[in-house]
Amino acid sequence: MDSYIEFEGVGKVYPGRTRRAAPTEALQEVTFGIARGEFCSILGPSGCGKSTLLRILDGLVRPEAGRVLVDGTAVDAPGADRAMVFQHFNLMPWRTVLRNVEFGLEARGVPAAERRATALRYVELFGLHGFEEHFPSQLSGGMQQRVGLARALAVDCEILLMDEPFGALDAQTKTLMQLELARIWHEDQRTVVFVTHDIEEALFLSDRVVVMSARPGRIAHVVDVPFGRPRDEHLRGTAEFAALKEQTWEMLRDASGAALVGAGAETS
Ligand SMILES: Nc1ncnc2c1ncn2[C@@H]1O[C@H](COP(=O)(O)OP(=O)(O)OP(=O)(O)O)[C@@H](O)[C@H]1O
Ligand SMILES: [Mg+2]
Repeated sequence: MDSYIEFEGVGKVYPGRTRRAAPTEALQEVTFGIARGEFCSILGPSGCGKSTLLRILDGLVRPEAGRVLVDGTAVDAPGADRAMVFQHFNLMPWRTVLRNVEFGLEARGVPAAERRATALRYVELFGLHGFEEHFPSQLSGGMQQRVGLARALAVDCEILLMDEPFGALDAQTKTLMQLELARIWHEDQRTVVFVTHDIEEALFLSDRVVVMSARPGRIAHVVDVPFGRPRDEHLRGTAEFAALKEQTWEMLRDASGAALVGAGAETS
């Protein structure tokens, strides 16, 4: 079966910092596919190569072995079809909310009127209506995070690469952001590759969860998440959800070996 995104035997070794320092084998023989429109999360112990895998898909890092295909074409550089979203959104403090959201569209040469209309739509979608002319310093942390997400999603790209985008948020804001992301993803059906340390977050958001082993990172397990859409907060309280969480936790523990499982991966 041909997937939209295809990792084929991907391996990555980073050279040591000095000639005598040992190289780091970050990824080994990573092979899996992601369907168009799928929400796929990647879980794994700290240092197992999750960010590296995203960077390879984005085209920022080249693998030594294997390759990544997007829609049948090998990735060799960043492209307009992919956008990376990081944990720290780096808003521009001198720009208003609206102008921050417009930024990615400017960079892609979207005409001013269309840019404005799109930015306003995403400002609205993320509940920032009324704050268009505020500056980041005038917003709460969670609102700033929403501006960052609105900015990333306003760009019309098919694939969103998200590297622990909610890792720095408090629990309540995080839950709200997960709901907003799930809702917006459901509306515009993009393909999302989402790296997280948080099992519950991965299961709540995803169609599939890929569990990686400790370094060198390999695919250890793939969890098919059976819950229907749209999902709401009640899902987390169900016995089915708790059971899958427990099962995934065991897979992650098994895949981690002696390695440290990242903060936030506890079962409670
Ligand atoms: N630019 C680099 N140069 C050298 N080594 C690197 C580089 N980037 C990552 N590494 C190494 O590759 C391994 C995988 O790193 P990576 O950042 O992909 O892991 P990760 O799974 O995202 O970890 P975390 O969960 O802590 O974010 C680590 O051992 C790291 O030290
Ligand atoms: Mg990382």
